[in-house]
Amino acid sequence: MRGSGPRNPRFGRTRRGIQSSSRPKFFGLGGDFDGGPEFPGVKLPKERWTRTRTGLGNRGVKFNWNIVFGRDARRIVDLGCGNGRYIISSAIARPEFDHLGIELVPPAVRLGSLRAGQRGLTNCKLAWGDATEFITERCEAGSIDEVHLYHPQPYYDASKTARRQLSPEVLLSIFNALRPGGIFVFQTDNPAFFEYARATVPQLFDWREPEGTWPDAPEGRTLREIVARSKGLLIFRAEARKRPISGEAAAEIAARMPAPAFDANRPGYGDGG
Ligand SMILES: C[S@@+](CC[C@H](N)C(=O)[O-])C[C@H]1O[C@@H](n2cnc3c(N)ncnc32)[C@H](O)[C@@H]1O
Repeated sequence: MRGSGPRNPRFGRTRRGIQSSSRPKFFGLGGDFDGGPEFPGVKLPKERWTRTRTGLGNRGVKFNWNIVFGRDARRIVDLGCGNGRYIISSAIARPEFDHLGIELVPPAVRLGSLRAGQRGLTNCKLAWGDATEFITERCEAGSIDEVHLYHPQPYYDASKTARRQLSPEVLLSIFNALRPGGIFVFQTDNPAFFEYARATVPQLFDWREPEGTWPDAPEGRTLREIVARSKGLLIFRAEARKRPISGEAAAEIAARMPAPAFDANRPGYGDGG
């Protein structure tokens, strides 16, 4: 039952709310509790669990969705999916879409895939790997319906800005991977990162900044959103629709975009490298 669980003795908070600002990054790794509202979906008896881990395959080889999912369906990818909260809840809500979450941190992938499997999902897979490499090298043109990027690490250290998950190259790759009219969802609690996205994404996409909270997840779609809200941080988000621009024109536009060399430093604006 939603929010009715016991206080978590490890962190001293109820399952519904986050009450402390001092919490580990991926708290609750061992169980179904991740510090936010109850994790989406219902944990099934073990005999109904599914296998939800996948590999990305060899470098340079396109990812074969039809083989991995055993069908030809519409496709959603989450770049840096963390513990999988969004990709799992979307897979539950939208069984007609296949969902792939890619994440660099192995324990997060293990936990996310365990939870997806415990929910008996066949339309949700999690993969350990580099989401930037995936989107720039592993996607067939026009093959994906939605790309989601929630709270990419801002990387405050100037020597790490090349690791940022949004750049002209990545944005062009997202554009190319999406089907006509496909959607790119971008969300961050870092104002400088959002300003960078606002300066670049609308050159290739119709940009919309939805107001309020997500109707499907008012307390937050992802763990980072839930944590950021609990710290009182503002959430910046956009839903951007691929514009009808040719691949050649898009490449020319992207070539003129600035690199993500912005200064992400904002006192009090969380963690993230
Ligand atoms: C601040 S967390 C946000 C996680 C999740 N999207 C959320 O909103 O809760 C950023 C995540 O991106 C992952 N990440 C960073 N760069 C990545 C990359 N190139 N490929 C895959 N994951 C990446 C990190 O490991 C981390 O889990």
